[in-house]
Amino acid sequence: MRTNLLIIASALLALTSCKLTDKVEESIIDTSTKTIVMHHTNQLNEIKKQDKLLNPRTIDPNGKVQYIPKDDWTSGFFPGSLWMTYKLTKEEQWKDIAHQYTEMLDAVKHLKWHHDVGFMIGCSFLNGYRLTDNPNYIEVIIQAAKSLSTRYREGAQAIQSWDNDKGWQAKRGWSCPVIIDNMMNLELLFEASILSGDPVFHNIAVTHAKTTLENQFRDDNSCYHVIDYDVNTGEVRSKETAQGYADESAWARGQAWALYGYTVCYRYTNDSLFLEQAEKIYDFIFNHPRLPEDLIPYWDFDDESIPNAPRDASAAACTASGLYELYLHTSNEKYLTTANKLVNTLASPNYTAKEHTNGNFILMHSVGSIPHGVEIDVPLNYADYYFIEAIARKKNIEAGESILNK
Ligand code: GLY
Repeated sequence: MRTNLLIIASALLALTSCKLTDKVEESIIDTSTKTIVMHHTNQLNEIKKQDKLLNPRTIDPNGKVQYIPKDDWTSGFFPGSLWMTYKLTKEEQWKDIAHQYTEMLDAVKHLKWHHDVGFMIGCSFLNGYRLTDNPNYIEVIIQAAKSLSTRYREGAQAIQSWDNDKGWQAKRGWSCPVIIDNMMNLELLFEASILSGDPVFHNIAVTHAKTTLENQFRDDNSCYHVIDYDVNTGEVRSKETAQGYADESAWARGQAWALYGYTVCYRYTNDSLFLEQAEKIYDFIFNHPRLPEDLIPYWDFDDESIPNAPRDASAAACTASGLYELYLHTSNEKYLTTANKLVNTLASPNYTAKEHTNGNFILMHSVGSIPHGVEIDVPLNYADYYFIEAIARKKNIEAGESILNK
């Protein structure tokens, strides 16, 4: 009798604690949505005082918000965050402001001098198209894909990321530099092929992804930041870094771009090679002895000053969002569990800013580029974007919906 009572009591306890855990899990979406709305509202109120649409990227060392021009590689993230906020809240006001910020970037569809048009138009127009079916956005997406495709180099079988004759890149002596970040621009090409019926964009994306897979990864499945190809022969001239700690180090955001990028490639191709690559990158990151217990990586896994090196919340946010998709392709619970842990940590006061702090950005503690001495331990608009996207994906998954649409 006593044993039976004990069993019933422990079963009840287990049930209660399970319910409690479920409740905590559920409420992360609600509490984060409130936080996102609060910071965005304050951000937009600050912008309103200046009487024009300004596009926030980060804060300077004095805490002042830095606004960016249209052709900055991060210009799509704030519009994208507004779309994701609309997706989370379904409130018309977010749709209206997201439209305004998106349409402000129309001219970006002609941008050909760097590869980031995929980030810029993908986060703004492609998200807008998915959420509203606005037919005017189709032309912008296809034109942007055409512009990006002008950077495809047949000899290298890859899209050239940066020009080699301008800015700081001109000092590096590169022929055809390709950076791992470029994997994030391929979604635009895949979608442009679907929307236009022209396979050329899809084929460029697949070729680029295969070339990258062949040359950009080490035996431990970590990736280099930059591969410089001979633009005519495709020979690998060097394997280097630009934003990481060292040529042979694993720059945290690069690993996140790679995981997310190969997961997206699998979505459009069903090629198991790409899925396996995403899973290998997961194994590298999450079995790494220098990954902190809270799962937010140091900005580079090989910085010799670890554990005193800065963390990079942007890498964690991008990884979380990518892992929700990886979970959908594999049904492997470990990806869902890890994504949930990342989101829980990012949503905690350790990384989420209090009201009226952090320049009204959501996440604290990201790193732009330590080698360039800029944006160290700051908020970044792309950390916020991928965090909100991750929350929206979590909500979709829990409701049994597609992560791509309403
Ligand atoms: N795409 C540039 C960066 O990740 O910082």
